[in-house]
Amino acid sequence: MPAQIIDGKQIAKAMREEIREEALRLTAAGHQPGLGVVLVGEDPASQSYVSAKEKACEEAGLYSDDNRLPADVSEADLIAVVERLNADERIHGILVQLPLPAHINEGRILLAIDPDKDVDGFHPMNVGKMLIGEKAFIPCTPHGVVQLLVRSGITIAGSHVVVVGRSNIVGKPVAALLARKHEHGNATVTLCHTGTKDIGSFTRQADIVIVAAGRPNTLTADMIREGAVVIDVGVNRVTDETRKRGYRLAGDVDYEPILEKASFVTPVPGGVGPMTITMLLFNTLESARMRAESHA
Ligand code: GUN
Repeated sequence: MPAQIIDGKQIAKAMREEIREEALRLTAAGHQPGLGVVLVGEDPASQSYVSAKEKACEEAGLYSDDNRLPADVSEADLIAVVERLNADERIHGILVQLPLPAHINEGRILLAIDPDKDVDGFHPMNVGKMLIGEKAFIPCTPHGVVQLLVRSGITIAGSHVVVVGRSNIVGKPVAALLARKHEHGNATVTLCHTGTKDIGSFTRQADIVIVAAGRPNTLTADMIREGAVVIDVGVNRVTDETRKRGYRLAGDVDYEPILEKASFVTPVPGGVGPMTITMLLFNTLESARMRAESHA
């Protein structure tokens, strides 16, 4: 029996309706949630992510402050934009789209963001707090992956999760989250990466495989066991002359054969992607709610 396709769009839609209701309630009380977005340069993938984030804010009733800066902006000017957003009372969340151009030190920019507005959860303060189990903003993609599993009725606790990829944005935080002593954690987690010998020998032992490697066909059907859950975080542009734009989007997994063998699979697009944006809205709403409570 082919796998059940996890409909990220549908799950995201349901969550965004809940978020919109809460955003309208906060707005009526004088605390409209606000997100400051910063995009440097012209990278087409980043541009399309940022446009999608701005559109989602508008639909969910959030205020957004969009800042598009040229690729040759200086680090000092970029930090000045971040500091202006830090000081702006209307802004509860700040997102600086990554990657940044090579002449900018990413670490310094992330450190400049007020940790209380760091809705990406990339500031070292939030990374550390998450790791030691204190309340912190959870990075959006890992948070979205957990929500997809939970809302699809997949048991995380006690399962063996194999994560492929060790990025700061996905691999490392999702591994940490799922290993936490938490109702949505308590998994046994194996983290595979480019230094792993024979990734398949690990993924074949997994109940849940999460692939965030940034490379098409990283996971093939021979690398999973029958009935495994497969979460595909990859978004790759693959040349396709049959498409008008000359490419199509593909994830990191060999989708069709895996569909025949797994129990649940996320599609690309329409799986993890819509959840990432949803969790950004969720974190911004949380931030606004905390500020409203501290002013109450
Ligand atoms: N680039 C790719 N994913 C993300 C993300 O979740 N947040 C930011 N800021 N940049 C990204």
